[in-house]
Amino acid sequence: MSTSIHQRQQQQPHHHHHLLSNPNPISPRNPLDWRRPISIFGRTGLLILLTLMVVVGVLLPTMKMRMPDGLLSRASVSKWRDYTLAQAAEFVAKNGTVIVCAVSQPYLPFLNNWLISIARQKHQDKVLVIAEDYATLYTVNQKWPGHAVLVPPAPDAQTAHKFGSMGFFNFTSRRPRHLLNILELGYNVMYNDVDMVWLADPFPYLQGKHDVYFTDDMAAVKPLNHSHDLPPPGKKGRTYICSCMIFMRPTNGAKLVMKKWIEELQAQPWSRAKKSNDQPAFNWALNRTAGEVDLYLLPQAAFPTGGLYFKNKTWVQETKGMNVIIHNNYITGFEKKIKRFQDYGLWLVDDHAQESPLGKL
Ligand SMILES: *[C@@H]1O[C@H](CO)[C@@H](O)[C@H](O)[C@H]1NC(C)=O
Ligand SMILES: *[C@@H]1O[C@H](CO)[C@@H](O)[C@H](O)[C@H]1NC(C)=O
Ligand SMILES: *[C@@H]1O[C@H](CO)[C@@H](O)[C@H](O)[C@H]1NC(C)=O
Ligand SMILES: *[C@@H]1O[C@H](CO)[C@@H](O)[C@H](O)[C@H]1NC(C)=O
Ligand SMILES: *[C@@H]1O[C@H](CO)[C@@H](O)[C@H](O)[C@H]1NC(C)=O
Repeated sequence: MSTSIHQRQQQQPHHHHHLLSNPNPISPRNPLDWRRPISIFGRTGLLILLTLMVVVGVLLPTMKMRMPDGLLSRASVSKWRDYTLAQAAEFVAKNGTVIVCAVSQPYLPFLNNWLISIARQKHQDKVLVIAEDYATLYTVNQKWPGHAVLVPPAPDAQTAHKFGSMGFFNFTSRRPRHLLNILELGYNVMYNDVDMVWLADPFPYLQGKHDVYFTDDMAAVKPLNHSHDLPPPGKKGRTYICSCMIFMRPTNGAKLVMKKWIEELQAQPWSRAKKSNDQPAFNWALNRTAGEVDLYLLPQAAFPTGGLYFKNKTWVQETKGMNVIIHNNYITGFEKKIKRFQDYGLWLVDDHAQESPLGKL
C-alpha cells in the first residue's frame, strides 16, 4: 500500500500547488456573508483556522488514500494524455540535453534493455520516451513518471510494426519531426533506436561543436583513424549513414538537416515496389545539406554497425574495449534480435531488470 502511494505521488513531478488554487468556501475575503466580522486573533477565528488546518492536513490526505485505484489512475492517465513535448523535455533535460527514442508497445522489452545499459552509464535521467501509442505512454509514465510523452495524433498501432511495411514507414517518418521539435525547443538531442546497447558513455565522443553526429551503417572495415567527414556515396548514389543514432546541437544546420529529411520523405513516399524505410531519405538529406552543415562521422570502432559487430569476430577482437554502442541491426524479427542479444550477453532484461528505471515489465 505505502509503495503504491509513493509511486502515485511521484507521478506529479511539479504539480503540487493544486490545493492552493482550490478556492476556500469560507474565505475571510467575503466578510459581508458573516453576521459579524471575524478577527483571526479572536477565539472564533482561531477555532475556524484550527478546523481548517485539521481538514486540510488530515482529512484530505485520508480521502485521497481511500480513493479507489481506478479514480487515481484515471486522473494520472488524463494528465499524461495532455503532457506536451515542451513540458516533457523541460522535465527530463539535463545540461540542455535530452536522450530520445520513439517506441510502440511491442518494443517495450527492447526499450527496457536499452534503458538498463544507459542506467549503467548514469545517463537515464535525461531519457525521454516518445510513445507512439497510448499503451506505451501509460506504461512508461506509470512506472517512471514524466519520462514518456505522446505527440498526437498517435499512428495506427496495428499497422506500425512490420519492417518494410507502409505502416512502419509512416511510423518512422514521424522521427525527424520529433527531433526537429526538440531542436526548436533549444535542446541538444541524442536519438537512439532501442535495439541498441550502450557499453560505455558515448558523450565523450561527441567532440567539437558540430551540428550533426552520426554513424556509418556500412559493414566494411575502416582504419581506426578514418576521416570524420561524410563518406563518399555508395552504389545507390548515396551514403549508408544510419538513422539509428543521431546526436544534434540546436543549430540552424541541424534543423536544416531535419527539414530536408522531412522533405525527402514526402518526395519519395512508401511504395510497394521499394518498401523503403526512413534511412535513405536521411542520407539524401545529408547529401543535399553537406555544403552548409557541419557534419561529423563518429568512429567506427566505437559505434559499429551490427553488420560488422555481429559478423566479424576478428574485428571484434581487434577493437576490444573500444566499442561504445552496439546496434542489433542487419537482422529482422523480434525473436531473432532477442536471440542474438542473448548469444552475445547483451540481453540484460532477464537478469538485470531491477537496474532499469522501469523495473520488470
Ligand atoms: C553537465 O556538463 C558538465 C560539463 O560538461 C559535466 O561535468 C556534468 O557532469 C554534466 N552534468 C550532467 C548531469 O550530465
Ligand atoms: C500512411 O500514411 C499515408 C499518407 O499519410 C496514408 O495515406 C496511409 O493510410 C498510411 N498508412 C498506414 C498503414 O498507416
Ligand atoms: C591514418 O594512418 C595512416 C598510417 O599511419 C596514414 O597513412 C593515413 O594518412 C591516416 N589517415 C587519416 C585520415 O588520418
Ligand atoms: C550527393 O550525391 C550525388 C549523387 O550521388 C553525388 O554526386 C555527390 O557527390 C553527393 N554529395 C556529397 C556531398 O556527398
Ligand atoms: C574482418 O575484420 C578483419 C580485421 O579488422 C579484417 O581484416 C577483415 O577484412 C574483415 N572481414 C570482412 C569479411 O570484412
